[in-house]
Amino acid sequence: MKQYVAKVLSQSLDLSVEDILNLLETPPNREMGDVAFPCFSLAKAFRKAPNQIAEDLSRQLSDPLVSCKAIGPYLNFYFDRAKYAKQLIETILDKKNTYGESEIGKGKTVVVDYSSPNIAKPFSLPHLRSTMIGNAIVHLYQALGYQVVGINHLGDWGTQFGKLIVAYHKWGNDEVIRKNPIEELVKIYVKFHEEAEKHPELEDEARQWFRKLEEGNDEALRLWKWFVEESLQEFSKIYDLLGVHFDHFMGESFYNDKMDRVIQELTEKGLLQESEGAMIVDLSDLNMPPVLIKKKDGSSIYATRDLAAALYRKDAFDFDKMFYVVGNEQALHFQQVFAVLKKMGYQWAEEMKHVPFGLMLFENKKMSTRKGTIVLLEEVLQKSIEMADQIIAEKNPDLPNREETAKAVGVGAVIFNDLKQHRMHEVNFSWEDALNFEGETGPYVQYTNARTRSLLRKANISEEQIHSIDGSYLTGEAAWALSLLLNQYPDILIKAANRAEPSIVARYLLDVSAQFNRFYHQERVITENEKEQIAKLGLSTATSKVLQHGLSILGLKAPEAI
Ligand code: ARG
Repeated sequence: MKQYVAKVLSQSLDLSVEDILNLLETPPNREMGDVAFPCFSLAKAFRKAPNQIAEDLSRQLSDPLVSCKAIGPYLNFYFDRAKYAKQLIETILDKKNTYGESEIGKGKTVVVDYSSPNIAKPFSLPHLRSTMIGNAIVHLYQALGYQVVGINHLGDWGTQFGKLIVAYHKWGNDEVIRKNPIEELVKIYVKFHEEAEKHPELEDEARQWFRKLEEGNDEALRLWKWFVEESLQEFSKIYDLLGVHFDHFMGESFYNDKMDRVIQELTEKGLLQESEGAMIVDLSDLNMPPVLIKKKDGSSIYATRDLAAALYRKDAFDFDKMFYVVGNEQALHFQQVFAVLKKMGYQWAEEMKHVPFGLMLFENKKMSTRKGTIVLLEEVLQKSIEMADQIIAEKNPDLPNREETAKAVGVGAVIFNDLKQHRMHEVNFSWEDALNFEGETGPYVQYTNARTRSLLRKANISEEQIHSIDGSYLTGEAAWALSLLLNQYPDILIKAANRAEPSIVARYLLDVSAQFNRFYHQERVITENEKEQIAKLGLSTATSKVLQHGLSILGLKAPEAI
């Protein structure tokens, strides 16, 4: 409300919306208006008494949705609730399913680098968080009209493949690997490390194999490809369950032939230095440790690939912004990469952002990811789906497509549980919290949405039959508070995108759900009075538009009935 009033006032005053917002107050009771503007601070500039200023302004201002009245030195604003609700609901319904979206990003491109698990290593919980947060950021920017390129920067190259090839030759079994690729590959990888402690010569063998791989040796390449394919198939099970799709799988190996350019440019620009046989970029002037560009043995590393990837992506996609959704422990790595790019003279590196996030715990315990989180992840999702199914069986035994709904609710519970927290906070997953239909959960929001849908069914009215809202039925406190909330949705999306913070949307959806349920319990939506019923169904359907849109931003489905 204050936002709206500030905008109205700014047209008559020589003050910014921000400044006005700081002055606006909430009157002690409704008779004195919804918002009040104290005129004291204007007295000097206007050379008039505050009472007179209030009086004058009240005559000047005119707005269709808000009227004002001078009461002493205060200018008090009264919203026309009926008009406000009518206008808002009609706008939301007119926009079909696009309310909240905008064209702010038209013509601009955003790259989101997310998920990015490592081949033949466990798909860890940080990778899961990256997947869900990244997916939401992709949707947020799409909703604002940006062209979005989602990239999975798979860890599909590196010395671990040398170790893996040695391990495979010694202990690998094709059939077993095919059945359970990640579990088995991780197993022999772990075994390699155990054995290498007793027999250090294994490490040399591994180095040789990795060198062979970098040189394009047939056997090494064949095995590498196979490991990658098997792992990817396994990862895609998780991606399918979560409903996540990438525009590109461009892993680290994609940059094998693109790193010479980095080395060359760094050399030309005088940034590359030798240090103990390796090549580095010194960042001591920025109080950062040096970046290793090329190892002593000539092999390339993580940072070099990220430099190559940034240059490649700038050429290929000409992005305006790029986000790296990666755990906080890599903060220094990204600072270094961005710093090197700036030293190379690439101003656009200013628009690259590391989007870090905190730890994830299960039932308050840190999970060891050694034995393959992917197994754990699938188990968690499956169990969550089963539990959702049980809850639905009790609540609504006759629900038609129960299987599909249980999947939407079970998976949604896991995703929402992650995204409702500020991303830097630790996330704890507990079954009881995540699946509680009355708590701050995905199922709660989904259930609220289903409730709005069931109202339409009860009234036996289709969405298309809702038009010409009579707002005079929507002036009660609950309806008014709900309208104000729905009105905020476009700004919520902008704020969440700017901060790369999906929790802003999740929290907002919880607020909308709670407010809708208050409205639902306080007012009779299904009534004899047809006009009244249409108005209330209008508000409830507008609510469902916002809930559905918001859920899809976060990557959750919105079943019609639960
Ligand atoms: N594969 C990396 C890891 O698991 C994450 C990659 C993140 N993206 C990037 N461009 N560095 O640690």
